[in-house]
Formats: sequence, structure tokens, C-alpha cells
Amino acid sequence: MKDEKQLLNIKNLVVEYRTDGGVIHAVNGFDLSLKKGEALGLVGETGAGKTTVAKAILRILPDPPAKVCSGSIEFEGEDLLRLSEANMHRIRGNKISMIFQDPMTALNPVETIGEQIAEPVRIHNRVSRSEARKRTIEMLEMVGIPGERYSEYPHQFSGGMKQRVIIAMALACNPELLLADEPTTALDVTIQAQVLEMMANLKKDLDTSLILITHDLGIVAEMCEKVAVVYAGEIVESGTADDIFNHTAHPYTEGLFDSLPRINSTARRLRPIKGLMPDPSNLPEGCKFCPRCPYAEEICQKKNPDFTETTPGHFVKCHKRKGDA
Ligand SMILES: Nc1ncnc2c1ncn2[C@@H]1O[C@H](COP(=O)(O)OP(=O)(O)OP(=O)(O)O)[C@@H](O)[C@H]1O
Ligand SMILES: [Mg+2]
Repeated sequence: MKDEKQLLNIKNLVVEYRTDGGVIHAVNGFDLSLKKGEALGLVGETGAGKTTVAKAILRILPDPPAKVCSGSIEFEGEDLLRLSEANMHRIRGNKISMIFQDPMTALNPVETIGEQIAEPVRIHNRVSRSEARKRTIEMLEMVGIPGERYSEYPHQFSGGMKQRVIIAMALACNPELLLADEPTTALDVTIQAQVLEMMANLKKDLDTSLILITHDLGIVAEMCEKVAVVYAGEIVESGTADDIFNHTAHPYTEGLFDSLPRINSTARRLRPIKGLMPDPSNLPEGCKFCPRCPYAEEICQKKNPDFTETTPGHFVKCHKRKGDA
């Protein structure tokens, strides 16, 4: 088949949250693909739908209120959305694992750190307790935590160490794909750098594919060869890091860069993008960025632009930039 080399291939994913207050259109036709060993940065403002996509991949969205309305999520050639729960259980935490946005709630306070890592290893790899313990100690040491701390509880660890534990846990079963949702946001800057370096090394050593969800374009530039920019539940621009950083095509991506402080520029003030992301329960008809876009024209209000390939591998969803990038 034509997508044979892809590890993950998401097509036209649509996810809604059906609440008493109305239908929230969180993910609106999302296409994304990733090859083995690749790292993709998923960036965009708060509420854009990033975590929803990651949870949809793992099939851990709360239902209700979440509903996957359409689309497919092919992983190693199989549509995850059509797998039985038993088969999905084998994939979760084993072939695909996730580092959650809020690490502090991801650990069980009454179980030792070691047990929490060893348990999924034992279940997924069907190994003995002592084998699982050995692998856990190896993983702890890999993330820079002495193996002797196996029997300690989460409250005995600092925030940065807890985050390393979460990463060890996510990597213990040697996943093919790691979904890292703001893995360093809760950490201070020095520890952030250490954790990122560690993840980059692991990716290199274990050939793990990575989807890195973040608000931080600097982290993306450092870690990812591909980037997808998300706005109101759609990808508005995707391509290589070079496409996105050096040949920026979408006005929203441009806005994201303009809103960053730049060390080497004195003239440029921090310019946040004007306005807010549209209410996901009441999205505009045409281009969703149109109300905030400095280049908007009449057509932008009326018609949602297609996702168009401007140069090989560089896709943009914009009437104005179509074909002229
Ligand atoms: N359980 C839920 N019930 C109702 N609405 C939800 C639920 N979870 C998320 N949403 C809504 O879905 C939209 C997308 O949320 P999501 O958490 O995917 O955004 P995000 O891009 O991860 O944001 P952030 O950067 O803040 O983590 C938002 O409008 C959010 O309010
Ligand atoms: Mg999120």
C-alpha cells in the first residue's frame, strides 16, 4: 500500500465533546503522518485540540462527552479506531505510550515508584517479577535516578525527578511511538533542558518515534524534524522544521513567531496575535483564523481553504498563500 513506510497515519479525524452547553468541535478534520524514528512537534495555542488528538490515538478520551465522529488512525497499517478493546490494551503503554500534560497526577501516591514502572513491564512483556524489577532499575538509571530509589514513594521525589519517573514509565516497554504532551512545562528551566536532552538521546538510541506537544517553538526547533501547527482543531501548516521556521507560510504561524520575544532584535516588541481563538462550539464558516488574520479577504470568510502542498511536503491551509509560498 502507498503508506507502507508510515508508522502513524491520521486521516480526517473529527472529535467532538457533547456537553450540556452544546457541541464543542475540538478536532475538525485532522491529517497527520509520521515515519518510524521521526519526531514531530505539534504546536498551537491552548484549546487548539492537541491533547484531544493524542488521547484519540490512545483511545482514552472520556466517552461521554467525547465522540470520535469520523476518520481513521492507522498505526503500523491497522486502524486503531477499529481495533477491539483487548487489542488496543496490548498497544497502549506498550507500542504507544504517553507522557501526560500533568505529571503530578499521573503517579499513584500510595504505590512505590518502582512498582509503578514494573507493573506495565510485567503485564506487556509477560516477564517474571524479578525480570520486571531488573528492567525498571535499568530504566530508572537511564533517566538519572539511582536504582536504590525503587522502593520510594512519589512524595519523596522532587518535581523534576517525578517527571523523569514518568518518562521512564513511558519508555519502559520500549514503545514504537511516544506521545509527549508538554513533557517539560511543569519543570524549571535547567531541569527542562536535562529532560529534553535525555529524550533526544533516547530517541536516538531506541529509534522511538515522537509526537511532542508543546507551546514552545524553541523546544520544537531543538527536538523535531517535522512540525504541525494546530489552530481550532485543524492543522493549518505542516512540513519540515526548515519549512515552518524558515519558509513560514500561514499567517497564524507567522503570528506565533511574531509573538515570541527575540533576543537579537531590539526594534521588535513582543506582539501577541490579536484576538482569541474562536469558540469551538461556534466556529466560523470559512477559514477559522480569518477573524484574526491581517491578510483576510472576502473569500476567507466564506470558504474554508483546502490543505494544499505548496512545496514538496510543505502543506498550508490558506487562500492567500496557496501556491505562492
Ligand atoms: N472533557 C472535556 N469536556 C468538554 N470539553 C473538553 C474536554 N476536554 C477538552 N475539551 C475542549 O476541547 C478543546 C480542545 O482541548 P484540548 O485539551 O485538546 O486542547 P489543547 O490544545 O491540548 O490545549 P492546551 O494547550 O491548553 O493543553 C477545548 O476547547 C477544550 O475546552
Ligand atoms: Mg493539552
